Amino acid sequence: MRGDYALFFGLWLQKPLQIAAVTPSSKRLAQVMAELVDFDRPGPVLELGAGTGSLTRGLLQAGCPRHRLIALEREPSLAAALQRSFPGIATIVGDATALDEHFAELGIDRLCAVVSSLPIKWFSVAAQRAIVEPCLALLGPGGVFLQMTNAFASPIAVEPLGIAGERIAHVWRNLPPAQVWAYSKPADANAREKQ
Ligand SMILES: C[S@@+](CC[C@H](N)C(=O)[O-])C[C@H]1O[C@@H](n2cnc3c(N)ncnc32)[C@H](O)[C@@H]1O
Repeated sequence: MRGDYALFFGLWLQKPLQIAAVTPSSKRLAQVMAELVDFDRPGPVLELGAGTGSLTRGLLQAGCPRHRLIALEREPSLAAALQRSFPGIATIVGDATALDEHFAELGIDRLCAVVSSLPIKWFSVAAQRAIVEPCLALLGPGGVFLQMTNAFASPIAVEPLGIAGERIAHVWRNLPPAQVWAYSKPADANAREKQ
């Protein structure tokens, strides 16, 4: 665990905009996000920007079976640390903006939930779309894309993306305090797809 902090902080010094946090997320934030996942929904749980695995650990402790967890991380040294710490989960070393390709390669056609700690508020609208749209398509009705952020406003551009978003949790015990947002397709879009 102490090694995780050192690895994370060292990478933050080199790539502050990509790592976007000085320390990994707190246990409390991990617990809050995991409690928002309905593991009874079918499909794998996708974690985006898994880092050293703080949220991964929370998902496993909340009862997510290892074989249902897919952790995506762009930084190879962090992905290697994840694989060492959490054998049995699927780790994708790659960019979240190429999710369509990753889904096709791995044959993923459905998702239970998405848990993201990507620094997504810094991404362009096009990059946000490339991440959120394929996820919402595989989540289906009732599925949520959970995003943590340190900002008070929505970190995802809901209007340009034509999606619904609401802040559903506030976690003081995190450095800095965090908000959790849930994004979904608007209800009328789901109704149109069923017709
Ligand atoms: C704020 S850290 C969160 C790390 C960890 N999940 C936690 O909560 O402690 C953001 C993580 O997202 C990763 N990341 C940033 N941009 C990414 C991208 N485009 N694709 C995949 N991972 C990315 C970073 O390398 C970093 O590990």
